[in-house]
Amino acid sequence: MTTVAEILRALRANETGISGAELCKRLGVSRTAIWSHIESLRNVGFEIIASPHRGYQLTASPEALLADDLCARLSSTRIIGSQIRVLPQTTSTNDEATQASRAGAEDGLVVFAESQTAGRGRLGRAWHSAAGKGLWFSVLLRPSFAPSDCTRLTVTAATALARAIRATTGLTTQIKWPNDLLIDGRKIAGILMELSAEVDHIHHVVIGIGMDVNQTVSEFPSAIKGIATSLKIAGGKTVNRAELAVAVMQELDADYHRVQSGRFKDVADEWAAQCDTLGREVNIQIGAHRHTGRAEALDESGALLLRTPHGRIERITGGDVTLAQ
Ligand code: BTN
Repeated sequence: MTTVAEILRALRANETGISGAELCKRLGVSRTAIWSHIESLRNVGFEIIASPHRGYQLTASPEALLADDLCARLSSTRIIGSQIRVLPQTTSTNDEATQASRAGAEDGLVVFAESQTAGRGRLGRAWHSAAGKGLWFSVLLRPSFAPSDCTRLTVTAATALARAIRATTGLTTQIKWPNDLLIDGRKIAGILMELSAEVDHIHHVVIGIGMDVNQTVSEFPSAIKGIATSLKIAGGKTVNRAELAVAVMQELDADYHRVQSGRFKDVADEWAAQCDTLGREVNIQIGAHRHTGRAEALDESGALLLRTPHGRIERITGGDVTLAQ
């Protein structure tokens, strides 16, 4: 962790203030260094009062995402957030995480961008990423299981997102297989998993997550106005994106640990309890093929088991789901 992140962590842990001398002692740096870091934090929008009685006291944080702030807020994750990068703008955070992986980045790297110029969704669709309004980020992982079990990670990300949203905003989401989170039938978040693998070995997985957080209705492009919503619209108040981002990383870390230690079944059970696809008659379009049947369950690899009208079970790993009429 950087010295700036350590200062922010100390300020957050001491809401009534912490003296300059105490900060110097804890961080092993000079008073001048502390003062200059405090100045740099003020310059990026942190409000920090300095008084002879209380020392330094953090009274407000900026709206923008800052890597040091996210590191300071994140407590004891095993893997997720091993490194955090925040970019003002990029094409796609999935591209950034993929490039970082090739350059040898650690497992658990998370790349956020305030805006994306070529954000993408599943099946080659564009993903609208309004500047500063949502969370657009990608997580780099190198799981130990086989490529055929990778759908587990979409399930894992969805349950983690649902818990983080509930903990931060009190809002309940429904999960639509395979990768959508909905509130009142409108999409609030999507997950795009991209994989680099050989037949039996995963090189890396990039889990891209897009979450609409603080948009108003008029800020959505007209093409998605009727089908998308934001946490602000659903809950009626602005959401602190840094707090939500940290909650997501923490929950993702917990669920990734469950999956890596052989407890995918627990995650899948939690997922099933929130899924509005299971138990329904659905159509699943995969390219030119349409599969129809009852969405029965997830298997141990995260694939959807579909009971066809002839009573057969089909194992489905992707596609577009609509409810059958
Ligand atoms: C979907 O619903 O189709 C998935 C949407 C995933 C969007 C996120 S935003 C961050 C990351 N970067 C991208 O280009 N896409 C994902």
